[in-house]
Amino acid sequence: MVSLKEDKLMKIDIIVSADDIKTEKIKDKTVVVIDMLRATSVITTAISNGCKGVIPVLTVDEAAAIVRNSKEEFMLGGERNALKIEGFHYSNSPLEYTIESIQGKTLVMTTTNGTKAIKGCVGARNILIGAMINAKATANRIVDLNKDVVIVNAGTNGEFSIDDFLCSGYIIDCLIKLVKAQLTDIAVTSHYIYKNNEDIHSFIKYASHYKTITKLGLLADLEYCCTKDIINIVPEYKDGIIT
Ligand code: MLT
Repeated sequence: MVSLKEDKLMKIDIIVSADDIKTEKIKDKTVVVIDMLRATSVITTAISNGCKGVIPVLTVDEAAAIVRNSKEEFMLGGERNALKIEGFHYSNSPLEYTIESIQGKTLVMTTTNGTKAIKGCVGARNILIGAMINAKATANRIVDLNKDVVIVNAGTNGEFSIDDFLCSGYIIDCLIKLVKAQLTDIAVTSHYIYKNNEDIHSFIKYASHYKTITKLGLLADLEYCCTKDIINIVPEYKDGIIT
């Protein structure tokens, strides 16, 4: 394991969408996957509320097959076009994953971008689940792991997304208060944008997916997902499940 020597700077880089993940860029690094609207906010909330584990999958059929073939009672959650999938127990609203609804259960989850980004990071040393709601906790966990870090933005349908980029900037801001770091240009840009929009709402409202969710009237989800540091845990994806 390549840990950082005392005097070595921690390298911080960003990948802007799930479609841009390259194995050589993440190999043996700490990766943080961000899909703050809303997949990684859902996963962090569910695990924080006692969910036993989240199994991310790419397709609805794969999710249904896992539930069909499992002896244990699994729950189905996720979205397509930001809406609940027919036959699923939960949508991708983090507000549905309460202690009452998810404690002690295993969740099989499929979303458009978030689960794709998580699955795409296999090969990294650690795959952490980050969002605005657990940003500080994520920065602390990165420091504990003490390796170069790549922040993978899920993006929107292979495109750059303002929301994930802004969240990356906040996590970088938390991180550089803790360690000496070397930022790539895209990481500097993300941090710069965050430092000029620390209230989040002033800039995130221009994000295409923020507009999609607004049009669906899911304003409570947006308010929740844009709240900083209300959860002090950092889920991790390993061997097919997030715990
Ligand atoms: C995604 O994974 O694409 C998003 O989380 C979708 C959403 O929640 O609207």
